[in-house]
Amino acid sequence: MEISIVGSGYVGLVTGACFAEVGHDVICVDNDDRKVKTLQSGIIPIYEPGLEELVHRNVAARRLRFTNSIEDGVSNSQVIFIAVPTPPHSDGSVDLTYIERVAREIANVLKSYRVIVDKSTVPVKTGQKVADTIRRYNKIGVEFDVVSNPEFLREGCAVEDLMHPDRVVIGTNSERALALMRTIYEPFMAPVMVTDVNSAELIKHAANSFLALKISYINAVSVICEATGADVEKVAAGIGADKRIGRSFLNAGLGYGGSCFPKDIAAFIAISEQLGTPFNLLKEVQRINQRQLERFVKKLRDTLWVLKDKRLAVWGLTFKPDTDDVRNSVAVDLVNELCREGAHVTAYDPKGMAKIRELKLCPDARLVSSPIEAVRDAEALIIATEWPQFENTDFSEIKRLMQTPLIFDGRNLLDPKTMTEFGFQYYGIGRGLPAA
Ligand code: UDX
Ligand code: UDX
Repeated sequence: MEISIVGSGYVGLVTGACFAEVGHDVICVDNDDRKVKTLQSGIIPIYEPGLEELVHRNVAARRLRFTNSIEDGVSNSQVIFIAVPTPPHSDGSVDLTYIERVAREIANVLKSYRVIVDKSTVPVKTGQKVADTIRRYNKIGVEFDVVSNPEFLREGCAVEDLMHPDRVVIGTNSERALALMRTIYEPFMAPVMVTDVNSAELIKHAANSFLALKISYINAVSVICEATGADVEKVAAGIGADKRIGRSFLNAGLGYGGSCFPKDIAAFIAISEQLGTPFNLLKEVQRINQRQLERFVKKLRDTLWVLKDKRLAVWGLTFKPDTDDVRNSVAVDLVNELCREGAHVTAYDPKGMAKIRELKLCPDARLVSSPIEAVRDAEALIIATEWPQFENTDFSEIKRLMQTPLIFDGRNLLDPKTMTEFGFQYYGIGRGLPAA
């Protein structure tokens, strides 16, 4: 199949590379000239495990190329995916200006039948609006179909998620479009679920909201664990062993962040309110999430008494491990809050340092190039993102370097018993120790 993907970000680039890997001819289109030149020169602007090899291999095999011309993409492919951002407005509703613009751009260069697929996360009924827009702006009345095909990839394991999806959701009522979509996904050998466009769009918001709900649920349980001396890790294992519940997305911690959950939950709330059927449960999900960070800072404050002028080491700045993405990272919010309270923060992240510098956030925090450097003379070590390599650090050396041996583990990465044996005072999330 000949496929083009408009938007070469985390979603578009990984999707394009995986489609090429299974043998399709893929054109990645982006309106950012600098990004296109970077990609053409073989440099991958984001870190995602396995992505660089995938892109290089498929570019060399001439199955993948990059362009800034939407006309090039639309003329030379049967199916055009849209993977541009759908950022939130300040009231939580979705800003669809990029989607609308791309729909017009496609309409202006559309000369014969094409399938236009929305991969970006959009409110229910957006597919209809995309179709109306294309129809309105296309001067020659070309036939086309608009399909919804939401992405479910997680950053940090996006290639794996795309190559081995749990399911592929295809929202369309056109047999012609469905046949082309099936051909695209055939090599992935995943269960295909065919729905109408509205249901496919809803599946994405409902799935992400449910996952966020699971996280907030376990975080709410962690509060009860702290109040009673129970261990949330054991509770999560106990309830997660029930197949109807499942253990995944029951990791208590500082709460969810990233470029999807916060915006998608806010969007789903806004959509439900616009429809006059407010989804209030999701407001509580948001509230619990926000409280997790506040409770953590309180725990630091209660233990250290005054945060002003305290030397605090923070490990992890990305919104989750195995990515360089620091957008909407709870770790970044935490560092900002600590700086606001006058603490001297020294922070390290294995992959997020370049992006955090671009973000120009936390100007008072000092960024260092190793976890060891971060803890020198620190009065507490905070783990904000659960990078697995942090677990394998030499903790006797860490203890020697720190001024006072306190660990606040915001992601329950470390084993409390081992840390206590090293001589640390250890605080996790919902792990037996009552909140100070
Ligand atoms: C985005 C959305 O945030 C998400 O809701 C959706 O599910 C998929 O697309 P992401 O891939 O993470 O996710 O966005 P980003 O990394 O910002 O990449 C978007 C790309 O689109 C950028 O490279 C940008 O230059 C490009 N773009 C944007 C266009 O090519 N045309 C536009 O009109 C706007
Ligand atoms: C999410 C969805 O998982 C994916 O299907 C969708 O398409 C895009 O949004 P992503 O945001 O990349 O993916 O990462 P994810 O692994 O879902 O983590 C999101 C946030 O939740 C992170 O901040 C992570 O730290 C947090 N999280 C996740 C928890 O706090 N506890 C958990 O148990 C799982």
